[in-house]
Amino acid sequence: MNLLSPSILAADFGNLSDCIKRAGKADMVHFDVMDGMFVPNISFGIPILESVRKITDITLDVHLMIEEPIRYVKKFKDAGADILTIHYEACSDVRETMDRIHELSMKAGLAIKPDTDISVLKDYYDVADMFLVMTVEPGFGGQTLIEKCVTKVKELRESLKSTGLETDIEVDGGITRDNIDTILKAGANVIVMGSSVYNGDIEKNVEFFMNRLKEEANA
Ligand code: DX5
Ligand code: ZN
Repeated sequence: MNLLSPSILAADFGNLSDCIKRAGKADMVHFDVMDGMFVPNISFGIPILESVRKITDITLDVHLMIEEPIRYVKKFKDAGADILTIHYEACSDVRETMDRIHELSMKAGLAIKPDTDISVLKDYYDVADMFLVMTVEPGFGGQTLIEKCVTKVKELRESLKSTGLETDIEVDGGITRDNIDTILKAGANVIVMGSSVYNGDIEKNVEFFMNRLKEEANA
């Protein structure tokens, strides 16, 4: 199933509630947490997630760009996260972190940066609900998609298929009207978009991308 997950990193924080409502026809809200250590930027965290949870029932797709996320799994659960995605590169024990996420009844995603090979994911095929293939270096919105990451998506989809799995593959960073079809064809099915949804007319952008996702699923 193809799903759209608009990233509120690109929203107007002074009008966050309005922005989230305007993107309400999408499938999820993508919530980027940055700690200034794992990535060279700081975004927002637990109190803001609590506020977002209060204004919407939509699936909250939380992307943790933080060192040793296991320390905060319970706090993000309590704040209202539905999906918790951690970075392979940020954990001393990936499996333990994913198990902790499952113990708290959330879906567990595993992310890799553009220079991390998809082969490292194989050990977690049995435990991941979703793999996130970053299509830019994590840390900032509004960057250009790195082409080689599309090949990674393709190879990961083939590898999962050959093992009989249909695990969700999320892509995040630099997705636009120009490259959405290529990325869907490569095998991604959860599409994160910051600038492409929140710059301009939010409702129209969401409608456009939801239609593209539907058309691709029916093709
Ligand atoms: C980057 C974040 C992304 C970002 C995407 O580290 O993980 O979710 O918001 O923004 P765009 O779609 O503008 O590249
Ligand atoms: Zn993200």
